Amino acid sequence: MSARPVDTAPAPVTLASLMDMKARGEKFACLTAYDASFARLLDDAGVEVLLVGDSLGMVIQGRESTLPVTLDEMVYHTACVRRGRRRALIMSDMPFMSDATPPLTLDNAARLMRAGAHMVKIEGGEVMADTIRCLSGRGIPVCAHLGLLPQSVHKLSGYRVQGRDTSSARRILEDAAAVAAAGADMLLLECVPASLADEVVATVKVPVIGIGASGACDAQVLVSYDMLGLSSGHRPRFSKNFLTGRDSIQAAVEDYVQAVKSGRFPASEHLYT
Ligand code: KIV
Repeated sequence: MSARPVDTAPAPVTLASLMDMKARGEKFACLTAYDASFARLLDDAGVEVLLVGDSLGMVIQGRESTLPVTLDEMVYHTACVRRGRRRALIMSDMPFMSDATPPLTLDNAARLMRAGAHMVKIEGGEVMADTIRCLSGRGIPVCAHLGLLPQSVHKLSGYRVQGRDTSSARRILEDAAAVAAAGADMLLLECVPASLADEVVATVKVPVIGIGASGACDAQVLVSYDMLGLSSGHRPRFSKNFLTGRDSIQAAVEDYVQAVKSGRFPASEHLYT
């Protein structure tokens, strides 16, 4: 009788396994990935969530904002990342106005899922609740991006910390409650005061990923090019170059994963008051 082959495939990261980690108080790491080689490297280094971010418009395409990124481009990069991924969960951004109406969002999210995404990320709070309900009802997991919304950069007059005054802080808390009630499986909070992020984390049941938010978040995300010191120009306060003092990208990413899991990152110098 021939021996059965040993299955060495690592268990895939799923929404359920991330919820289990949250329940155990274990933090998970997220980084952006745009191609197969980086997807493989980040996955092997222990990153649980690969974000195919529309930040690719800036770091890959050299544009000034994420607004020109198209759905076709997101589909292409999602498919590249899927080919490199072993176990990580792939989250793909819905690019600017690809989520303008619920029916349009369903069609466009379906394209991202067919290309290999396991969930989609949508910018916006209560205003996106119907869309989130629609996607969730059709079995498409959603991460709702709150706080600084890069696709609204012109409405916000720049990349600024959000939720610093009482009414905008209340708005963000209401948005978090609204998207969670609509079925969002995860939240991503960008550039808000740490005390506000703490409140959001304390009030919603789903995992919250932070970027310039709070160490209390269930996970952290950075743009991989920023955390490797590759981005030209100004490095945002919330980012950190993990390649400094390391001799390989692999070592830098492993250090990031350990720093997130141990609570060493973010430190107070990466957060806002
Ligand atoms: O597109 C992206 O990379 C993002 C991160 C900044 C969270 O949305």
